Amino acid sequence: MEFDCSRGPVTPDYAGERNVLAGGRRWRGCGGALATFGGGVSRASAVEVGAPLACGTQNRAHRPRVAPRSPRMKKKILLGLVLAFLAVQLVRPEKNISPATPKTDLLALHPPPAEVKRLLQVGCYDCHSDNTRYPWYAEIQPLGWWLDQHVRDGKRELNLSSFGELSPKRQASKLESMIDVIERREMPLESYTITHRDAIFTEAQIKELNSWLEALRDKVAPE
Ligand code: HEC
Repeated sequence: MEFDCSRGPVTPDYAGERNVLAGGRRWRGCGGALATFGGGVSRASAVEVGAPLACGTQNRAHRPRVAPRSPRMKKKILLGLVLAFLAVQLVRPEKNISPATPKTDLLALHPPPAEVKRLLQVGCYDCHSDNTRYPWYAEIQPLGWWLDQHVRDGKRELNLSSFGELSPKRQASKLESMIDVIERREMPLESYTITHRDAIFTEAQIKELNSWLEALRDKVAPE
């Protein structure tokens, strides 16, 4: 079969050409270009990935049958995935940790009964304060990024560590929204309670927590 690199195949007899590829012989007229097949990249791999033929003619019919299911291809894909996974491990969000309790902290300003304190700590403080207790899987990306996003979004809405910095009116309104979301069981977030079973509150716990929050709301901003 004739093959001209500048013009592509001149006969439609591709079967013959495949034979040439398979046999590893040179195509007529492709001398220098085809040499790349031989140098460096093994002929077999170049064929597998369906690389454009070395002559530069990218004729579909020319592409040898790509073998996506070949074991070598699978290995390459797997290796690519492993490398990508390792690479994303290097991008670590900054941790939200400051163990000292500031004076402006809600629990420091208004010490609640032990049970209420515990509920707020296990249920809310990981996302709504300056000190998150990180689970081990926070070290694995992209899980760590996902947690980080929750903490940042949570703190933007409500940061219990700096509760005292708010005006009494704002404090009362934050307490009101806390009561609301607890009552409607919107908080703690459901994704959080999957791994923090102790943050699933019973009716009794919700009642206890909310009556304390209500009393505090009335105390900080009496009408
Ligand atoms: C897993 C992290 C997480 C936990 C735990 C969590 N929150 Fe949130 N919270 C968020 C995020 C994220 C937002 C902002 C996005 C949203 O509204 O869903 C938010 C928003 C809020 C808001 C503002 C929402 C509004 O509609 O006004 C309040 C109030 C709130 N949370 C209270 C609480 C309380 C109270 C608890 C504990 C009982 C709690 N959260 C536990 C992540 C969390």
